[in-house]
Amino acid sequence: MAGAGRRRVVFFPFPFLGHFNPVLRLAGALHARGLAVTVFHTEQRVPDPADYPADYRFVSLPVEVPPELAASEDIARMGMAMNDAAEAPFRDRLAALLAEEEAEDGGVLCVITDVVWYSAQAVARELGVPALGIMTASAAIFRVYMAYQTLIDKAYLPVQDARKDDPVEELPPYLVKDLLRHDTSKLEDFAELLRHTVAGARQSSGLVINTLGAIEAANLERIREDLSVPVFAVAPLHKLAPSAKSSSLGETQADRGCLGWLDTQEPGSVLYVSFGSLAAMDPHEFVELAWGLALSKRPFVWVVRPKLIRGFESGELPDGLGEELRGRGVIVSWAPQEEVLAHPAVGAFFTHSGWNSTVEAIAEGVPMICHPLHGDQYGNARYVADVWRVGVEVDGSHRLERGSIKAAIGRMMESGEGREIGERMKALKMAAEDGIGERGSSHTHLSDLVALIKSF
Ligand code: UDX
Repeated sequence: MAGAGRRRVVFFPFPFLGHFNPVLRLAGALHARGLAVTVFHTEQRVPDPADYPADYRFVSLPVEVPPELAASEDIARMGMAMNDAAEAPFRDRLAALLAEEEAEDGGVLCVITDVVWYSAQAVARELGVPALGIMTASAAIFRVYMAYQTLIDKAYLPVQDARKDDPVEELPPYLVKDLLRHDTSKLEDFAELLRHTVAGARQSSGLVINTLGAIEAANLERIREDLSVPVFAVAPLHKLAPSAKSSSLGETQADRGCLGWLDTQEPGSVLYVSFGSLAAMDPHEFVELAWGLALSKRPFVWVVRPKLIRGFESGELPDGLGEELRGRGVIVSWAPQEEVLAHPAVGAFFTHSGWNSTVEAIAEGVPMICHPLHGDQYGNARYVADVWRVGVEVDGSHRLERGSIKAAIGRMMESGEGREIGERMKALKMAAEDGIGERGSSHTHLSDLVALIKSF
């Protein structure tokens, strides 16, 4: 039997793409290091076994939340409702797996869930199985999770206009406006979700973070001190795991045609524009972005995925604008992002500063033009622009406007400042490469994680 003799790790990813992919990549990295993999998943995101090694096992869990909540953007209440709904099916499936383990292949060594699945972590512990969490966003954001109630008590949150540019003394380099929040959820609900998440991590057998020592050493140290559990920083995971089949990465097949088009472009000349898998913008902002690209006169690859524009399934460009852009760039509904970023023609990345996108850009040495839209993205952009200084933020309020887009593109791709940023990004890419080398920190942390798991 394939996988016989290997000992098994159960993974439970959260069904949002930006959470799901890093967990499956960690599974790939551990599988390549001799561990057998079972993936528990919900019906909201069902992995295709054909995308994964033949000996992976997949177990579906019915995790239902009320339809009106599922349709809302209330991430906090949805997260808690999903935890409530997952608890019983997770217990059933894990208990069944434990019962059959003698007859199987060496048994379940541990469970690794997204940190946000705190109810599953508690169930695993109750059944005597060590549980580890994986934080799919940055270490800095995990520190915000830990400090959230303090940030509310000290009136940094909710963000007040009058204080939005004040520094957050407890969490430099953040300004108040950078703090993690979701305007679609009540602050107290969000605080409760994070309280459960951090409490779960404190009781865990270890915390894996999708980050790297080269950019977050101090934050990692603080978390280690505060949680008193082993902390492993293992990014960039896509460089430490066998490459995933492209269909496993997105909602739709990636359009690989843009790679051929990139081959025809000058090195470092193309702007790659993408806002990740979830973010939505107003139709007005979409048109401003299109005008900004047109005015910059830069070649581009632009991801306009279904539902990027609020209220519209797909993005139609207004009359006249299509002609402006035609011939200068490529619009796709989903890009093979890692390959696009690795292409020598790409010179900058216009991004919403999602954490996976940020790490992938660092891994490929592509400087960023940041336009954060929600959640952790404001804080990620602060680190990119002000701490690592490998990108710029689009000036102005949080609303896109053609003049500021054109200015940011010019600043990044046509100025002395942009060249300096590019040099710093090259150095950061090399540091990330060192991290995955044999004696590098991410490589070592992954080996330490495997050793811990095998010791259970
Ligand atoms: C969400 C949040 O927005 C993000 O801030 C948080 O850190 C994780 O959850 P998402 O918005 O999807 O994630 O952004 P991001 O974290 O950047 O992840 C997007 C992923 O989709 C990346 O791995 C990227 O490579 C991939 N992608 C995106 C593609 O493969 N093709 C595309 O066309 C667009």
